Amino acid sequence: MAFVARSTPTDLSLAVSLADLAELAEPNIERTAWDYYRSGAWDESTLARNSAAWREYEIHYRGMVDVSRRTGAVNLFGCEVPCPLVAAPTAMQKMAHPDGECATARACSAAGLPMCLSSLSTTALEDVRAATSAPLWMQIYISQDRGFTRDLVQRAEAAGVDAFAVTADTPVWGIRERDMRNGFRVPDGLHIVNLERPGGPTGHSGVGIGGALSWTIDASITWKDVELLAASTSRPLLVKGLCRPDDVRAAFDSGARGVWISNHGGRQLDGAPATADILAACADAARGRGTTIVDGGIRRGIDILRALALGADAVAIGRPILWGLGAGGEAGVGRALELLRGEFELAMALAGVCGVDEIRALGASLVRPRS
Ligand SMILES: Cc1cc2nc3c(=O)[nH]c(=O)nc-3n(C[C@H](O)[C@H](O)[C@H](O)COP(=O)(O)O)c2cc1C
Repeated sequence: MAFVARSTPTDLSLAVSLADLAELAEPNIERTAWDYYRSGAWDESTLARNSAAWREYEIHYRGMVDVSRRTGAVNLFGCEVPCPLVAAPTAMQKMAHPDGECATARACSAAGLPMCLSSLSTTALEDVRAATSAPLWMQIYISQDRGFTRDLVQRAEAAGVDAFAVTADTPVWGIRERDMRNGFRVPDGLHIVNLERPGGPTGHSGVGIGGALSWTIDASITWKDVELLAASTSRPLLVKGLCRPDDVRAAFDSGARGVWISNHGGRQLDGAPATADILAACADAARGRGTTIVDGGIRRGIDILRALALGADAVAIGRPILWGLGAGGEAGVGRALELLRGEFELAMALAGVCGVDEIRALGASLVRPRS
C-alpha cells in the first residue's frame, strides 16, 4: 500500500459544519485509510449510537438572560484554555495529510487547545511538542514490555509533554471488519515512530496494526499498572476508555487525576453504551476527585453544551480532526476547531448561559433525556 494522502488545496469556507469537512476530506484520503478512520468494531452499533445518543438530550434553554458576555474558558490541569475542547489521540495521522500530527499540533496551538498525541503516531513526539505551544498530552498503551512504556513516558516527560492518558479499553485490539476485508496495512513509507525499539523491526510499514504492534498492548494489565504509571511521572495521568462509575473510582484510587469517558469511538467493544448515556453516572463518581473528559460522536457545539451539563469538564473529538486534516491539513484542523467552538459559543447564548461553570451548575435543569 503506497502513501497517497494528498495535500490538495480545498476551499475550506465551503465547510460550514463538521459533516461538510468530512465530505471535503474523503476524496483526498486513500480508500482503505478512510475506512480505517471511519470504521467501528463488528456491527458498528456503538459507533452509530455514540453520535445519535447526544441528540436524545434536550436543552431546556433559559430566556431573558444577559448573554452579551460569554466565555467557554476552562481550566484543565492548571492551564486555562479558551474552549472545553481537546483533540483526541488518533493513530497514523499522516495517512490523512502529509503533515500529519504536526499539522494538528499547529492548529491546536493557534486555537490554544490541548492536543493528545496517539502512541501510534506517525511523527516523533519531540517534533509534535515543538509544533505547539498549547498543552500537549500523550496517550499511552501499557506494553508487554513494561520497561519500554516506562522509558517512553520518561522520554515524553523530558520532551515537555504536559499530561498522559493511559488507554484502558484495549487489552486486545478490537475487530474492524472493514480493515479485515481491505487487508489494511500500515502504508509503505509511514512509521509508528515512537514505538520503534532498538533491535526491533525498523518501522512497521506494510504490516497489519494487530501484528507487528501486538507487543505494544498487553492483555494482563490491571489497576496495579495504572498505579505504577501514575507514580512514575510528575505529570497528571488520565485513564481513557472508561464507562463505569466503579472504574472511575478505581482510576482515582490508583493515582489518576482525570478520567476520560470513552469507548474508543466505537472501535473496541461493540455493544458498549454510548458515552452520552453513561456520562452523568461516571461524572458523579468523579466529582471532587479530578477532571472528567468525554468523547464519542461529538459533532456539534450543542453536544459540548450537553456534555458539560451532564458533568464533563471538557470534550474530545477524534474523527473530526482527521476530516480537517484530510480537507486541508493544518488549516482544515483549524476549521474543525473553529466551527465547533463557534457553535458552542452560539449554543451558550441561545441556551441562556454565559460560562462553563454555569452550565455545570445548572446540570439536569438545563439538559435532560427526552421523556
Ligand atoms: C482512526 C482512529 C484511531 C484512533 N487511535 C487511537 C489511539 O491510538 N489511542 C487511543 O487511545 N484512542 C484512539 N482512538 C480513539 C479516539 O481517541 C477517541 O476516543 C474517539 O475517536 C472519539 O470518538 P469520535 O471519533 O467519534 O470523536 C482512535 C480513533 C480513531 C477514529
